[in-house]
Amino acid sequence: MRSPSLSRVILALAFVAAALLGTGCSYEWLFPNTEMTTVHPETDATRLIQEVYVPITWIMIVIFVVVEALLLYTILRFRKRRGDDSIPEQIHGNTAMEIGWTLIPVVIVVLLAFPTLRNLWALAEPPEGSDPMVIKVTGKQWWWEFEYPEEIGVVTANELHLPVGKTVRLELTSDNVIHSFWVPRLSGKRDLVPGRTQSIWFTPEKAGMYYGQCAELCGASHALMKFRVIVDEPGDFAQWAANERSAVAGSMTDPGPAAMLAGGCVACHKIDFPGSPFQQRLGPILTHIGSRTTIAAGILDNTPENMAHWIKYSPEVKPGSTMPCHRMPTEDDPAEGCVPVSDENLQTIVAYLQSLK
Ligand code: CUA
Repeated sequence: MRSPSLSRVILALAFVAAALLGTGCSYEWLFPNTEMTTVHPETDATRLIQEVYVPITWIMIVIFVVVEALLLYTILRFRKRRGDDSIPEQIHGNTAMEIGWTLIPVVIVVLLAFPTLRNLWALAEPPEGSDPMVIKVTGKQWWWEFEYPEEIGVVTANELHLPVGKTVRLELTSDNVIHSFWVPRLSGKRDLVPGRTQSIWFTPEKAGMYYGQCAELCGASHALMKFRVIVDEPGDFAQWAANERSAVAGSMTDPGPAAMLAGGCVACHKIDFPGSPFQQRLGPILTHIGSRTTIAAGILDNTPENMAHWIKYSPEVKPGSTMPCHRMPTEDDPAEGCVPVSDENLQTIVAYLQSLK
């Protein structure tokens, strides 16, 4: 006893499903090409992921539409009606259907397993003969340290420069908690696990700025553990590396380093100038801090104002940060736990750091 309204409902649902599937063919409006997009691959590695992701998504959409349509049909068609206490025909133990809904999922899963395993293996190690550049990445709370191979001889923080067209293999580890390396336009995710080294590889194809973010909950400032990958033309990369390798100007008779020594920066930071007492790597290396685009792991533009604010109010800017605040107590502000640094000295420190290009 099918009611005409029911068939109209099903017809309407079929139209909606068809419309969704149809517009899905160009999904740009749904997934625009943004900074953190995962569906516009721009490297060999992300293309391998996309190759599996797209067919799986389509198969899931089809399964979803079919199952939901059957469910709605069953709910509406066999609902209890007033004055009708009969029970619909029971089909328990229908062998043909049992075989059908066992075999179809098995076939789908097996078909998906082939491209998935093939690409998982391909993603495990860089392609043969690619001669990758190996960079050690250490996750910190909450920033990133990048250590280039010996022939490049650079250690830097939070901004990873890479040359276009060179396959890179990142060796990821952590000396505290678990983090996760993620630059969605360049690679998948991989965890940085204390006590072990895992790797991820990709080949950047286009010069430009790529945005990264820690993708594993790692404490109070997990959301503020950002970084940038800057892909340079090979010549620009060589120039950048040569600059990073070089020592900067400085001596302990200069006001900048002297103010930093008094402010306690020497306990955690490294600045490479002749005879420098700044040799610690507990915090980011500051040797060429003035040439970075951001500070505090990608959360503030590198301007003198932001740098002064960051040094003065670090725990407010980045909750849980090991970096203490640096300011004098005043009547309204007890500056609890802060290293006492006068505004004048702070300006001297900022001017010096900004000069370290
Ligand atoms: Cu590191 Cu989240």
